Amino acid sequence: RPTMLWGGRFASGPSETMAALSLSTHFDWCLAPYDIAGSAAHARVLHSAGLLTAEELDRMLAGLDELSEDVRAGRFRPAPEDEDVHTALERGLLERVGAELGGKLRAGRSRNDQVATQFRMWLRDAVRRVVAATLDVVDALREQAASHPDAVLAGRTHLQHAQPVLLAHHLLAHSQALLRDVERLRDWDARTAVSPYGSGALAGSSLGLDPDAIATELGFEHGVDNSMDGTSARDFAAEAAFGLGMLGVNLSRIAEEVVLWNTAEFGYITLHDSWATGSSIMPQKKNPDVAELARAKSGRLLGNLTGLLTSLKAQPLAYNRDLQEDKEPLFDSVHQLEMVLPAMAGMLGSLTFHTERMAEMAPSGFTLATDLAEWLVRRGVPFRVAHEASGECVRVAEERGVGLGELTDAELADAHPELTSEVREVLTVEGSVRARNSRGGTAPARVAEQAARVAERVAEH
Ligand code: ARG
Repeated sequence: RPTMLWGGRFASGPSETMAALSLSTHFDWCLAPYDIAGSAAHARVLHSAGLLTAEELDRMLAGLDELSEDVRAGRFRPAPEDEDVHTALERGLLERVGAELGGKLRAGRSRNDQVATQFRMWLRDAVRRVVAATLDVVDALREQAASHPDAVLAGRTHLQHAQPVLLAHHLLAHSQALLRDVERLRDWDARTAVSPYGSGALAGSSLGLDPDAIATELGFEHGVDNSMDGTSARDFAAEAAFGLGMLGVNLSRIAEEVVLWNTAEFGYITLHDSWATGSSIMPQKKNPDVAELARAKSGRLLGNLTGLLTSLKAQPLAYNRDLQEDKEPLFDSVHQLEMVLPAMAGMLGSLTFHTERMAEMAPSGFTLATDLAEWLVRRGVPFRVAHEASGECVRVAEERGVGLGELTDAELADAHPELTSEVREVLTVEGSVRARNSRGGTAPARVAEQAARVAERVAEH
């Protein structure tokens, strides 16, 4: 009989179809290093509890070391009849230390507490890598902001020209969102740093094993307070899937702007050749595929979150085999982000910004109309009236095909008696930007403060 972990009460082995459905080694093999680390920690607590002699512990640990080396070198692989990573590695251990000693390791543990622990370990490491790669994107945005301290563009709402802003302000807005993603994933880690090992199948262990000792050895803060919850809760996975999904969504918002800004109509940016692709038929094409793939991957990441939550819904306590479906969505989200994040950092860091074009477009669409209204407010005119007057200026200017600054004194006075030629002083993009000097505003001094705070937050990681 192949090394199944549960053969005793069965007269026959599983049907081939059943085994194929059950199999998970093709995706859970990446848990192997964590499974082996867990086994070594478990062997030590078995020894502390008097269930392994010192000599047995030494042989067990040597066998696990050898197995670990063989896994790393690809000399030990799961066999087709191994149900999952845990089954395969038990076989590997038995082959190395013999069935007599190897068979002792399973005392007081279950694949249910093993897999719950190992999945947390894998995810905690993976999320750390994602965080580091996200900070590289933040850095690319920060560097572009720092290289273009004076550049302006039309800020938009509803994708329509709204008010002028600094390019640095716009880029740092994306950094803010990404930094929250980073901080959210860090917060997640604090909740996930609790180890289910020692929960057994669901009820805990009767063998005097110390879950807190294993927890510390595996990098956790402590063991879980409830073995049923420890073996069956997967909110840590769902929360990670959300954190990664949110990150994907934030990346897709940046990506969408890159796609737009790269069009002939915008003409705001040029992609570096090494981060763009061509067309097989149209020789002139230079396409923003990195941004498009990043935009699309966000959908996939949200699918992973939705699929996982749907699998978890209505599962009774404690472990159910449904839970085997928890891993692939997270493995995939991490894998996708590990491709997308460095590509986004490379693409964003190497963008050329056409700041003259941005500046030229910044006042168009009457983006200074609010400045005109606020100038009247500073002279005591109620904003409701000022808004009307400014709106009338826009109407007249639009009819004549000129900018607000080119209205005649008579036209200004017609719109409101308080509107004198001095208003033209605030009708510049630079003046407008400088005036938005409240905390978080787009005035250069405020944006510099913001950049400094962003730098401090980045340095915390
Ligand atoms: N491979 C399973 C999982 O990923 C763990 C095995 C638990 N199997 C069981 N029959 N209790 O969740």
